Amino acid sequence: MRMYDIIRKKRDGDALSAEEIRFFTEGIVDGSIPDYQAAALCMAIYLNGMNREEIAQLTFAIRDSGERLDLSAISGIRADKHSTGGVGDKTSLVVAPAVASFGIKVAKVSGRGLAHTGGTVDKLESIPGFRTNLSDSEFIDCVNNVGAAIIGQTRDVAPADKKLYALRDVTATVDTLPLIVSSIMGKKLAADDDIIILDVKCGSGSFNKTPQISRELAQCMVDIGKKAGKKMLALITDMDRPLGCAIGNALEVIEAIETMKGRGPEDFTRLCEVLISNTLYLAGKGSRQDCDDMAKASLSDGSALEKFREMIIAQGGDPLVIDDYDRFGKAKYSHAVLAPKSAYISSVNAEGYGEASLILGAGRNTMEESIDPCAGIILKKNTGDFVKEGEEIAVLYSEDKEKFADSEKKLLSSTCFSSEAPKKKPLILDMVE
Ligand code: URA
Repeated sequence: MRMYDIIRKKRDGDALSAEEIRFFTEGIVDGSIPDYQAAALCMAIYLNGMNREEIAQLTFAIRDSGERLDLSAISGIRADKHSTGGVGDKTSLVVAPAVASFGIKVAKVSGRGLAHTGGTVDKLESIPGFRTNLSDSEFIDCVNNVGAAIIGQTRDVAPADKKLYALRDVTATVDTLPLIVSSIMGKKLAADDDIIILDVKCGSGSFNKTPQISRELAQCMVDIGKKAGKKMLALITDMDRPLGCAIGNALEVIEAIETMKGRGPEDFTRLCEVLISNTLYLAGKGSRQDCDDMAKASLSDGSALEKFREMIIAQGGDPLVIDDYDRFGKAKYSHAVLAPKSAYISSVNAEGYGEASLILGAGRNTMEESIDPCAGIILKKNTGDFVKEGEEIAVLYSEDKEKFADSEKKLLSSTCFSSEAPKKKPLILDMVE
């Protein structure tokens, strides 16, 4: 088999066989296929697409390209939730313990964030002492004893994706359905859960800008997951505004805890409930109505919070943070952003808000940069709210007050004002089963 023939075949619009796709992924991992040929194939895929069978085969080849953690020692049904990433998205911190409180196992391997705010691992590490670097046996013990554990990635999972993504990033071939689906699902299937719930974001804070693209992406991921024998469901949710009020690592953990005390922001609480409820439903815990009731109860009766406390203890963190938020530490400086006029906030660019928090130190531009766990933004107003001139829109937190001017500028330029109230958009735009 020759890479040249595979590139030519896709250039001419023909479908690749499973063998040809595996030849490609194995070749990029072992280095026998040079970057220029791999990049040429990415561009041919970008221009000519792939049919569903090719996308499935590319996903499975990416899944099989690296190491996989053996989770067979974990008893019971295993579920995971994956979000395509959004500003203020801290749902994993709530969904994992809530689902585990119903006896479903969550063995979650999460990433660190690049740009915007941190990833789930960065957020959890804002809890003093919390260890995300458990050994395999510690991880499995935590999941078996507590029901849920969240750790960082240590293995070389799906190395074909790592290589491919780096090439796509510099050859303008990231935003194409076959490569996005195989990248996300290749990594997800490597974790070998029984149930996978996808939260596909749509809007300014996401790489999917329209509901139609998000729906196609969601449907394709659900179909491939089912083909691999998984129980699948995808929500398509609005990312034209940040989720909840907190952006930034410790601030988001506090908001997650508040949500598990039944006092979370309405949009964030509802999304968590829907994610929990659908996981319970796919796990066969009852009718849709029963599962929705159970999900709501887990956030209002303290059961998710108790499970979160157990998770923190099992992973070496300070559980007293749950009742004493001062234990997270505090940013040295804060700065209020005031409304420049009296008007409705007609829309916000969620990505811009993410960038405003990155400026404050809540995210990183390169993997080597460190994150300030206490930096970030608390939103006092969001899309649809009326603000009076001089009223607080947001409060910025940072260790460095020099950063406030740029962050404020970014936040205000990402906020649109109007004399008319904007149309209310639902948070959950669609569901694909
Ligand atoms: N996230 C991924 O993991 N891969 C993509 O291609 C896009 C988003």
